[in-house]
Amino acid sequence: MPQGDRIQTPTWTERMALFLFNQEALPDPIRLFLVGGLELASNWHQILFESPVTTNSHITRMIRLAQKPDSATFGATARPVAIVTGANTGCGYETTKGLLQAGYHVILACRNPDITQKAIDRLKQETDLDHMEFMELDLASLTSVAGFCNTFKAKGLPLHLLVNNAGIMMTPYARTAEGFESQFGVNYVGHFVLTMKLVDVLKHSAPARIINLTSNAHLSTRSIDTKRLEDPKAYDPRVNYAISKLANLLFTAELSRRLEGTGVTVNAAHPGPVATELYRHLPAAHLVSAAVRYMFLTPAQGALTTLHLALSPDVNGVSGMYFFNREPHRPSPAAENVENQKALWEYTVDKLAAKFPEAKEWA
Ligand SMILES: NC(=O)c1ccc[n+]([C@@H]2O[C@H](COP(=O)([O-])OP(=O)(O)OC[C@H]3O[C@@H](n4cnc5c(N)ncnc54)[C@H](OP(=O)(O)O)[C@@H]3O)[C@@H](O)[C@H]2O)c1
Repeated sequence: MPQGDRIQTPTWTERMALFLFNQEALPDPIRLFLVGGLELASNWHQILFESPVTTNSHITRMIRLAQKPDSATFGATARPVAIVTGANTGCGYETTKGLLQAGYHVILACRNPDITQKAIDRLKQETDLDHMEFMELDLASLTSVAGFCNTFKAKGLPLHLLVNNAGIMMTPYARTAEGFESQFGVNYVGHFVLTMKLVDVLKHSAPARIINLTSNAHLSTRSIDTKRLEDPKAYDPRVNYAISKLANLLFTAELSRRLEGTGVTVNAAHPGPVATELYRHLPAAHLVSAAVRYMFLTPAQGALTTLHLALSPDVNGVSGMYFFNREPHRPSPAAENVENQKALWEYTVDKLAAKFPEAKEWA
């Protein structure tokens, strides 16, 4: 990956996670469980000792030092423009709040108008700002994704920041409107199409940034196992989530190569273990929710790495990297493998082309 010299020396938990990654005999679900445990161990200090005041002061500092996009490309809003998917709750909500405070006009790309309106009311109350709007987007339907992009383009706005944040985790088996396994379809394919349909606007608005939310759960799977994506009997909610998050990293690396020289950068962010609604599909979800509220990071802490990638002058020109705790780290060997990156791109375009003729242009 580019910018390799900036990558942090692996911590003991990363070394352990890599060791687990390399244990071929270990089944993926067990690897996932162990990687999750290591993750909690590596964040215990922030979870136990960082107060909301300290988190807010990190965000305030980021906003003060923010890299401002070029005002010549602001257009009708007279502000830089950001799209955040899944902005109505969790990490997406806190990211939106930080971007509003940094002066962005934010488009909340969400699937539920009523829930999003409540989020907008709360954001207005908490920030005293109103430069935001709701636009409907259901990532489980490529018709909806295409409709969103057409409506956005009709507004004639520039686009300086695209945060591909929305996600689902460990859901019961389902398919998206176009037949993709739903975790892969929502977390990765929907964002792939959204990005590819908006990339021309990003290029015109450059310098511009794309951020793909991934997870250290990607360390628990060794490949994009297409059998698990295509055969409902091979579906495992845990492993399929890990596959979708590995896909986010492979997409980041391949897209970064394709965007070289355009002024558009793309990086991946892992927010850490965050107490959000993401855990709603786990068995005994009520108990899990109660536990994660005390054992995990707050959503504001979970937004710190994304906000760093969105705003920091330190990442000006940095592309194709994996970040957590606001620092670049090495992802799994499977994510760094260039053949895997190219193979996933080909697989995606191939599957899309059958139902979505435009996809052939993205090969
Ligand atoms: N929380 C963690 O511990 C953790 C760890 C690692 C990575 N991540 C990643 O961080 C990102 C944010 O997760 P979070 O924890 O903030 O989760 P969250 O609180 O559950 O929020 C997920 C967001 O995605 C939206 N969404 C789900 N399906 C969608 C669809 N089909 N179309 C459009 N939007 C959809 C949800 O909308 P609704 O409200 O309408 O459902 C919600 O706004 C995800 O990509 C996740 O994989 C989270």
